[in-house]
Amino acid sequence: MKIALFTAGGDCPGLNAVIRGVVLKGDRIYDHEFVGVRDGFRGLVEDDIVPLPRQRVRGLSKVGGTILGTSRVSPFDHGGTARVKEVMDKHQIDALIAIGGEGTLTVARMFHEDGINIVGVPKTIDNDLSATDRTFGFDTAVSVATESIDRLRTTGEAHSRCMVVEVMGRHAGWIALHSGIASGAHAILIPEVPVSQEQVCEWVQHAMDRGRAPMVVVAEGFRFEGADQVDKGRTDGFGRPLLGGIGEQVTRIIEGRTGIEARNTTLGHLQRGGVPSADDRVLATRFGTAAVDAVSNRMWGTMVALRGVDIVNVNLQDATRTLKSVTRALWDEAAILFG
Ligand code: F6P
Repeated sequence: MKIALFTAGGDCPGLNAVIRGVVLKGDRIYDHEFVGVRDGFRGLVEDDIVPLPRQRVRGLSKVGGTILGTSRVSPFDHGGTARVKEVMDKHQIDALIAIGGEGTLTVARMFHEDGINIVGVPKTIDNDLSATDRTFGFDTAVSVATESIDRLRTTGEAHSRCMVVEVMGRHAGWIALHSGIASGAHAILIPEVPVSQEQVCEWVQHAMDRGRAPMVVVAEGFRFEGADQVDKGRTDGFGRPLLGGIGEQVTRIIEGRTGIEARNTTLGHLQRGGVPSADDRVLATRFGTAAVDAVSNRMWGTMVALRGVDIVNVNLQDATRTLKSVTRALWDEAAILFG
């Protein structure tokens, strides 16, 4: 078979390990031929396709980013499935492997419904895809965030300041929860659990009173309980405020209400860059080799996923139905130690 691979949406440590896993197993076991699509759906509609021989993927499991490039271009703004089929026909491509997050996998499902042979591989540092126990990239992001919080703690302690750290997580607070627990944060604020300004300030004051430098970890999608603190008229494409993120707002509120000096650090794309952790390399490689099995078995419209210790195949329709949120019970477990 001739198979085209692409990575779409935000990048994520481990993407190259997936590409390597697909190509090495596909070449060795099935004798497939591979091509890479540049920059996700952009390359698919603009016919930007490059050869992907096994020599090209050597040593890739430890390399961050994606050798294929990525973008947030929607194929439906550029001819949709008809255009994609045209490009596939031109290159005699039999099947696609789509490596992406919720948006990409939803498009993959629509391609499948339109008769394109496609298999998905889930990817996101946010770990918010419900059909898989974990996504690769998450472990790396949590490690980067935890190390950063540990570093911020010593400077916070030196100045007796409250340190606020904003981590990624638009819809789900997994990175905040895990890095916050790992680093012993005094408050963890996540999109799933709105908390009042009073409560946050109480935790901060309590930590300060005990002689600690308060550490607050906030996920970018967090909103205060009942508060309309976001200037909704000025948001970016994802609904995020343009004038200072939530970390900045939490910092200003803490300073204003408690008088404790506070500083904000937004970790941003540091959480997505650099080499993947060993765990992420393993999961990404396993996803890659399982995806090429799925293609070879013509399991169109499915996605590889982790269930316990096993890699399984799930229907793209089920995989894109709901996001995986942090449960109230999990957050409560952490919140016992706040303040
Ligand atoms: O979905 C992954 C993610 O890292 C989110 O946590 C974050 O909101 C978003 O991507 C950032 O996207 P971009 O790189 O396009 O700014």
